[in-house]
Formats: sequence, C-alpha cells, structure tokens
Amino acid sequence: MTKSVPHGGRLVDQVIEDPVQKDLLLKATNQMVKITVDNATLNDIHCIGIGAFSPINGFMKEEDYLSVVTNMRLKSGLIWSIPITLAITEEQSEKIPLGDSVALQTDDGIIVAVLKVEDKYVPDKQLESINVYKTTEISHPGVKRVIERPNVYVGGEIQVLETPDGEPFQSFFFKPNETREQFRDKGWKTVVGFQTRNPVHRAHEYIQKTALEVVDGLFLNPLVGETKSDDIPADIRMESYQVLLKNYYPSNRSMLGIFPAAMRYAGPREAVYHAMIRKNYGCTHFIVGRDHAGVGNYYGTYEAQEIFSQFTKEELGIELFFFEHSFYCGKCEAMASNKTCPHNDEDRVILSGTKVRRMLADGIMPPSEFSRPEVVKVLINGLKEKHKVL
Ligand code: ADX
Repeated sequence: MTKSVPHGGRLVDQVIEDPVQKDLLLKATNQMVKITVDNATLNDIHCIGIGAFSPINGFMKEEDYLSVVTNMRLKSGLIWSIPITLAITEEQSEKIPLGDSVALQTDDGIIVAVLKVEDKYVPDKQLESINVYKTTEISHPGVKRVIERPNVYVGGEIQVLETPDGEPFQSFFFKPNETREQFRDKGWKTVVGFQTRNPVHRAHEYIQKTALEVVDGLFLNPLVGETKSDDIPADIRMESYQVLLKNYYPSNRSMLGIFPAAMRYAGPREAVYHAMIRKNYGCTHFIVGRDHAGVGNYYGTYEAQEIFSQFTKEELGIELFFFEHSFYCGKCEAMASNKTCPHNDEDRVILSGTKVRRMLADGIMPPSEFSRPEVVKVLINGLKEKHKVL
C-alpha cells in the first residue's frame, strides 16, 4: 500500500476564497452573535479550514463527540481519536438558537469564521478527560483545558473567512492539497511524516533517517500551534529545523512544513489523530517513537504504538514506523536502540527533556552526541533573546 488517500476519501476545504462571497458573509456577520475564541480554537479553525482535519468540516456535534470520546470513531465509523469542539458559556448558548449562524472572532475582534449552530450540548468533562487523556488530574495540560473551558459545546459546519497563511511561518505553510502536489512534483511515491513539538535532536534524526532509508521522502511537520509554556517556542524551533536540514539532510529527500495545530498532550490518542492528519497531508508512512505526544508520566513508553493494534491496516490507510527509545552509545560509537545495542545505560548518552531545557536556558551546550552543535547554538541564542525580551 503506497497510495495516500485522504481520510474519508476527499480533502475538505472550508476556506472562502472568492472575494464577493467573502464580502457578503463578512457583512452578514454584523447581525450575528460574536464568540471570541482562544488560540487553540483558532488553531482548530485553521486546521479544519485547510482540510488537515478532513473529513471534519466544523466543530463536532454531540453524536460525533460521544462516539469519538467512547469509541475513537466518528458516528460514520471512521477513525477519529480527539474531540474537535467549541466551548461557549451558558449565557452565550441562550443567545444562539439552533439554525442561527455565529461569528467566531479573535481577541482583537478579527472575524475568522462563521459557524452554523447545528447542535448545543453539555459535555461530560470527566468522561472526556478520562477517555481521551487517561486521567482527570488538572495538572495534565489537556485536562486543565477541558475543565477550565466553558460548559456548553456548540457543533456545526464552519466557513473560514480569514485565509490561513501560517503566519509567521508563511514560507513553510502548505495546505494538504499543496503538500500532496509537492510530493508528486518531487517524484516521491512514499513519504514519511514526522510530528514534533521539540527541537530535532540526534535521536529524532536517527529515527527519521532510518525511515528515510526505505521511503522516498521525509516530511518534517512540526506542530507550531499552542503548546505548554515550557516547550521551546515555535519560532526558535523553526530556525533550528532549517539549520539542521541545511547541514545534515539531503535537500531532495526532505521537506519542512508546519502543522498549525495545538498540542493536546493526549499521548496514544493523539498519535492516532496525528497519523490520520499526516495521511491527509499525503504521507504514506508515519513515525511513532517512544512516548509520542506524552507529558509527565501519564502514558506508558510504547502505549502510543500499542493503540494502533485496535485498528485494521486498511482503515488506518497509513503505514506506521514504530521506533524504540533511541540514543547514542559510546561503545557502539553510533546511534542505536535496545534492538541494536547490547550495552548499558552508562555507555549511552541519555538526557531527559527537563534536563536539556535547563541546560539550554543556562547556555550550556548538550554534547554533540545528543544534539547537533548548529542546532544547539540556535536554541541557546533564541532562548537568550526571548529572555531579554520578556
Ligand atoms: S511529540 O510531538 O511527540 O510530543 P517529540 O519531539 O517529543 O514530540 O517526539 C517526536 C517523535 O519522536 C515522536 O514520535 C516520539 O515518540 C519520537 N521520539 C522522541 N524522542 C525519541 C527517542 N529518544 N527515541 C525514539 N523516539 C523518540
């Protein structure tokens, strides 16, 4: 299986590009109730608009929501593991009868989309937390967001008015139909997608390049939407990816493009959703390593791989590359994992994310066996600059 078919058969496009139609709809919003959305919801609006979340064309109605929360499937039976929902207050809910349209706007009053109110419901947030995040602890960033949001969900199709352009990363912004075209132009028949919310260290590079030994192209697709505050900011990461690709990757076999979504930290369930989205972008393969999309100790090291056994290959429609925890081994003098290295931890360069973040913030270079010096320099300088600005 090497052909990549969008999830559900075709790519959704909810962005209104026609200027006349756009103008009309924008004028119509004058009469609509306005709902101000947070950054993560704005990220969802963009992802829905460009078709990254195909076949989803709006915020979930209750039937889809419940089906996703309980069965990891849309009502139609199609795999979908993360609820895509819009939360509003009870007061707002009273002002918007079913059948009305509402305008979704940013903090500074820019109208970004129009939603047709097809359903309103009160979610069971405990059930959502335990099923999606496997915990109800508020210290989990995904659970925190669920609990702190208003208590009514509103569902329905959206029309996106503000054309997403990936700002401030416009030159690395592609809609799924555009990445598909690029892969075709490059002659890549097989493409592996790589999700990350971190800088690409040697372990990431190792698993990407191991995959690249068997497929035609690598699509490095970092998530640049909302992340938790101690993750490295997207602008610094983007610079580090460019430096890494320029120095260490064959340019005709790798491509950098942003994934404008918010991070959920839902571990296994997020891995499934990440895979479906990369299928939409045209990838034939997707990498899942250790503790994919994990946070703290909420998920087992390989749970994000095990979850895929609940689905058939056919319904997934994208091949998975599973990798074990990888590291540099001094005795092997190479990158390796337990599958290829017989030595002990004392021979291996293993640093926790927290330790690395602290080193970078203090201007200390992690060893080159852990991260490329060019990458580390960008990260240290970027963090120093941010600190100055703050
Ligand atoms: S996240 O988006 O999954 O949270 P992260 O950058 O930590 O971002 O990981 C990106 C991908 O690399 C994930 O599939 C993860 O499982 C994998 N990964 C990260 N570090 C390692 C490692 N040392 N060994 C194997 N896989 C890894």
